Amino acid sequence: MEQKGFLWWQRGIIYQIYPRSFQDTNGDGIGDLKGIIRKLEYLHWLGIDVIWVSPIYPSPMKDFGYDISNYTDVHPLFGSMADFDELITRAHTLGMKLILDLVPNHTSNEHPWFIESRSGRDNPKRDWYIWKDAQEDGSVPNNWLSVFGGNAWEWDEQTRQYYYHAFLKEQPDLNWRNPEVQQAMYNVMRFWLDKGVDGFRIDVMWHMIKDSQLRDNPLNPDYTDLQADYNRLLPVYSTDQPEVHDIVRQMRTLVDNYGEKVIIGEIYLPIEKLVVYYGVDNLGAHLPFNFQLLTLPWEASKISSAIDAYEAALPINGWPNWVLGNHDQQRIASRVGLAQAKVAAMLLLTLRGTPTIYYGEEIGMKDVPIEEDQIRDPQGLNMPGKHLSRDPERTPMPWDSSTYGGFSKEQPWLPLARDYKRVNVQKQQDDPFSMLTFYRRLIEIRKKEPALSIGSYRPVYSNHQLLSYIREWNNDKFLVILNLTPGVCYFTPAHIDLKGTIIIATHSELEGLPLNGTFGLGGDEGILVKLEE
Ligand code: NOJ
Repeated sequence: MEQKGFLWWQRGIIYQIYPRSFQDTNGDGIGDLKGIIRKLEYLHWLGIDVIWVSPIYPSPMKDFGYDISNYTDVHPLFGSMADFDELITRAHTLGMKLILDLVPNHTSNEHPWFIESRSGRDNPKRDWYIWKDAQEDGSVPNNWLSVFGGNAWEWDEQTRQYYYHAFLKEQPDLNWRNPEVQQAMYNVMRFWLDKGVDGFRIDVMWHMIKDSQLRDNPLNPDYTDLQADYNRLLPVYSTDQPEVHDIVRQMRTLVDNYGEKVIIGEIYLPIEKLVVYYGVDNLGAHLPFNFQLLTLPWEASKISSAIDAYEAALPINGWPNWVLGNHDQQRIASRVGLAQAKVAAMLLLTLRGTPTIYYGEEIGMKDVPIEEDQIRDPQGLNMPGKHLSRDPERTPMPWDSSTYGGFSKEQPWLPLARDYKRVNVQKQQDDPFSMLTFYRRLIEIRKKEPALSIGSYRPVYSNHQLLSYIREWNNDKFLVILNLTPGVCYFTPAHIDLKGTIIIATHSELEGLPLNGTFGLGGDEGILVKLEE
C-alpha cells in the first residue's frame, strides 16, 4: 500500500472503535475484544487500514475507561491479555495497524499511584499529582473549573490539601512536571509498543502541563448559560502551556525508537495553536487531531475557508488529518442529516490527509435519544438539563436485524437505535445504494488513486452552497464538487476549462455523466470527477 515516501499513517484510513459498543461476545451487554476480533474481517472488507480502540484497561469506569487504574492490563469486561495478543496478531495478519488510547493526563483515583499519593504528605508519590493548600479562608487554591462541571479541586480531609482534577474528582491529574511521572508513563508506552501496537491516540494532550504558578483563569466574555459550566472561564493557565511540547517531543522520540509508529494528539484548539503540536522540525505529534469539521457550522464558505486556513497553517511536511465524529461529539448524520452525511463522507475521504471514521458513521448511524433517567455519561449526569450527555453517540453498533441488532444476545448497556432493523450492516451490505456501499466504494477509489490521499489540494470555487477542489498526483486530476445544502446549485467553472467524467456520486444516477462546463447539482449531491488530461 505504501506510495514511495508516504507512510501507512499518511495513506491509511483510521477507524475508531468504542469497545463497549462494537460487538459483545460473552452476553454481558458490553462489547469486548473478542467482538472486535470477530469483526476484523468486516473492517478489512470496508477498506480500513488502522484501528484505534478507545481505552480497554482496568478501570472503575466512572468515565467509561478514561479513568484508568492499571495502564498495563486489560479490563476483564473487555477480555484478557491473551485476547489482546490475539487481536493484534490477527489485525496485523490482515495488514491492519492497531492504535491504543493512552490517557496520560490523569489516572483513576483507584490507581495505586494515587492511593499512595493521597496516603500522606510525605509519601514519595505525593508530588505525582497536583496537591495544593487551601487559601487562607479555606477556599479552593484557584478558580479552575472541571470540564465535567463544578470546580476542579477536591478536598482531601486526611491530608488536608486539595488535589486538581480537570475531569471527574475520580480522575486526579498527574503532575507531568515530575520526571518520575514522565518515566512511569513512558514505561507504559514501552509496554504496549513491545507488544507490537502501532501507536497511540493521546487523550487531552493539550491539558498535560498546567501553569507552574497555578494562576486564575480569566473570565470568558462569550459564555452563555447553554454552554457547559467549564466555558465560564478561558483555560489560559490550565491548558496548552509551552512546556507541554517538550513532553510531546519526548513521547515522539520514544515511539520513533520502535520504527514507523504514530502519535495522534487529542487537541481542541484553534488552528494556529493546534499546528504547534507538530513540534519543531515536525518532531512532535504526527497527527494533532484536526477537529474543524466537528466544530464548524456546516456551511460551504466557512468550511472552504477553514480548509484553506488549515492547509496554509500546516508546517512544511506537517501531515493533515480530518474527522467527522468521535465518542464525545454528536454524530455527523444527526448534525447534518442523513442525506448530507453522504456529502460529508465524500468530503472526509477526498480531502488531503488522513481520515478517521467513527464506528457506525459508515452506516449513517445517528445519535440515539437517551431519557434523563437512563443517562450513564458523567458529563450528562453532572450538568443536567444542558443536553451534554455523550451517551447518544455511544450506542451499540447494529449488525443485523436480530434481537439487539446482533450486537449482543442480552440487553446492551445502552439501547440500540430504534430503527436498527432497517439501519444495520447486513441490510446495507446487500443494498447498492446504501451509505455502507457508498463508503466502501469511496474508500476503494481513494486507495486506488493516490491523488485522493496524498495528491495536492487546490480549491477551485466555493460559495454559500457549494465547495469544489482539485486533487492531483502526477498527471491524475480529480475534481470534487459538493453541495452542502438541500437546494439546487450550479457549478460554473468560470475561467478553468474542466472536462471529465463523474466516477462516483452521492446519487448513483450521476455516475458516468460527463462534466463539460456548467453543472447543476441537486440538493445534497456530491460528485467526484476524473478530469481529462
Ligand atoms: C477526552 C475523551 O475523549 C473523553 O471521552 C474523556 O471523557 C476525557 N478526555 C477525559 O479523559
